[in-house]
Amino acid sequence: MKPLIIANWKCNPETLKEAQELFNGIKKDIENKNVVICPPTIFLSSLICEGIKFGAQNCFSENKGAYTGEISPQMIKSIGCEYVIIGHSERRIIFNESNVDVSNKVIKAQQSGLIPIVCIGESKDQNTFEIIEEQIKDIDKDVLIAYEPLWAIGTGENASIEKVKEVRDFLKERKVLYGGSVNSQNAKDYLEITDGLLIGGASLNNEEFLKIIKTAY
Ligand code: PGA
Repeated sequence: MKPLIIANWKCNPETLKEAQELFNGIKKDIENKNVVICPPTIFLSSLICEGIKFGAQNCFSENKGAYTGEISPQMIKSIGCEYVIIGHSERRIIFNESNVDVSNKVIKAQQSGLIPIVCIGESKDQNTFEIIEEQIKDIDKDVLIAYEPLWAIGTGENASIEKVKEVRDFLKERKVLYGGSVNSQNAKDYLEITDGLLIGGASLNNEEFLKIIKTAY
């Protein structure tokens, strides 16, 4: 099984035109590959096309109702998306998402036929295993986990291979991706010990992103 490479564009780029340009620059090279593009949800409908996998960066824990501003798993599924990232640390920290919120979203996403990717990870002053134990406690064993230590996200300070191996072993039979300052130089090392990568900053640079894809395929 080829590794899963997830591109998390976060809240970028600023316009649909730029999103289309970014996507058109990689489209041919990621066709029919195990690569998932997660643009801002508002751009999904304009980008979705045959032969390419797409994901959302978040979803709500209900499928419809009086929840102004929310976007449901069923809505995401209905436009042709296959995946959804849930519990990214930016959502947990900036938007106060709890482990209970994450678990509720995962359940609804699965019921709606989406494949959830749950992000977990500790801050510098936290014990890795205590934190991730809490974060996965209510998450189904089949759910893909992305280990992203907070101090490694967007900092250029990627986690050591030993650390990622320890976490992978701790998570036992679960499928584990690594995320946090992945680039074309370090991608290969993580790919040898994980099931794939979750890539933020480097996925906004087509040249760099394609180098990472080449490493994996
Ligand atoms: P980064 O982000 O690759 O820019 O560190 C990863 C992520 O937040 O998913």
